[in-house]
Amino acid sequence: MCEHPYTVLVTGGAGFIGSHACIALQEAGHHVVIYDNLSTSHPLVIERIGEITGRVPIFVQGDIQDRARLEATLAACHCNAVMHFAGLKSVSESVDQPLTYYENNVMGSLVLLQAMASIGVRTLVFSSSATVYGIPQELPLKEDHPLSATTPYGRTKIIVEEMLREHFNTCPDWRIAILRYFNPVGAHESGLIGEDPQGKPNNLMPLISQVASGKRPHLNVWGNDYPTPDGTGIRDYIHVLDLVQGHVSALNHLNDPQCIEVNLGTGRGHSVLEMVRAFERISGQTIPLERAPRRDGDVSSCYADPQRALDLLDWRAQRDIDEMCRDAWNWQVSNPYGYSKKDEHSVAQLLAGEACAPDSLVEFITPERASSPLGFQSV
Ligand code: UD1
Repeated sequence: MCEHPYTVLVTGGAGFIGSHACIALQEAGHHVVIYDNLSTSHPLVIERIGEITGRVPIFVQGDIQDRARLEATLAACHCNAVMHFAGLKSVSESVDQPLTYYENNVMGSLVLLQAMASIGVRTLVFSSSATVYGIPQELPLKEDHPLSATTPYGRTKIIVEEMLREHFNTCPDWRIAILRYFNPVGAHESGLIGEDPQGKPNNLMPLISQVASGKRPHLNVWGNDYPTPDGTGIRDYIHVLDLVQGHVSALNHLNDPQCIEVNLGTGRGHSVLEMVRAFERISGQTIPLERAPRRDGDVSSCYADPQRALDLLDWRAQRDIDEMCRDAWNWQVSNPYGYSKKDEHSVAQLLAGEACAPDSLVEFITPERASSPLGFQSV
């Protein structure tokens, strides 16, 4: 347990990585306020976090572009740190709708920063991505590798990073950690929370899971002529539980003013075929494969130099690809439809407001705050 617990506003806290971060934060003794517009996530997540940790976090349904609501939430809940996960993350969608990505990812982050500044919250952990390195010029990727982007999604991450660095230059009392994720996969070992992509997934692991469970007939292997040992692309897959532990370490490290960039990866690369074979071994299922052309914008290999994370945060990833596959598969078989369908009844109840106010909510809402215009939602 930490000596100085934070009350952390977790934007996007109902999403894949945000929800796992809420658990890690609570288990480390911090308080959590989830702020999410539920545009790509499900309210049942909040209940499941409570099931795992024994403490249902406060939930505020809101958009990061709603500055008044953000300010009211930060103030009413006495937040003294923010973890910012809310954002859109589909590369292909960003190519089709660049303005939507600039609006959500760039404008949303700008409004969040303004709200934090006006309330006086100056501690921020930001979700960035290894996509900011563009085509790797040298491997493993170190944090001082030049930044470049080939897609609007990647550019939104670079712009927000630059905005944070420039903001820190003029406000050097802030504490900012920019975390560059490699390829987060897996799920909580309970099988209660995991990745629940809407529509057809874009990323490898959710697709492998869906093929293994029979929801899709085969996996397209995009490119088998890369300069790698088996010809398929190599990535640095990191278990989501390790990734979120890196966030807790980053938060605990932000005792002094600073603005740091840190890779969160394992430092080890695995090919598409290695991931498929591991998943087959763990799940006992066969994953039919089909050859397909390279995907536009894909690089051959991408993996982290994780040394700075070890030096600065005293953090390193612990879990191997077998554990990643085991937990992804456990989530898939326990929730074949993600958060929907199976729990329809419970969700209907939640949305109708029949759920009890969680203890933590009662604790936070004093009479004075209860009359605030926030309208906390006890889902
Ligand atoms: C992709 C994005 C990256 C983003 C990340 C978010 C692209 C070009 N890159 O990264 O910007 O930060 O997701 O999680 O979209 N693969 C197949 N068949 C499939 C799916 C994937 O062979 O059906 C291969 C890919 O070619 C790649 C590997 O699996 O070699 C991993 O793909 P993916 O999970 O999409 O991650 P990235 O490409 O690293």
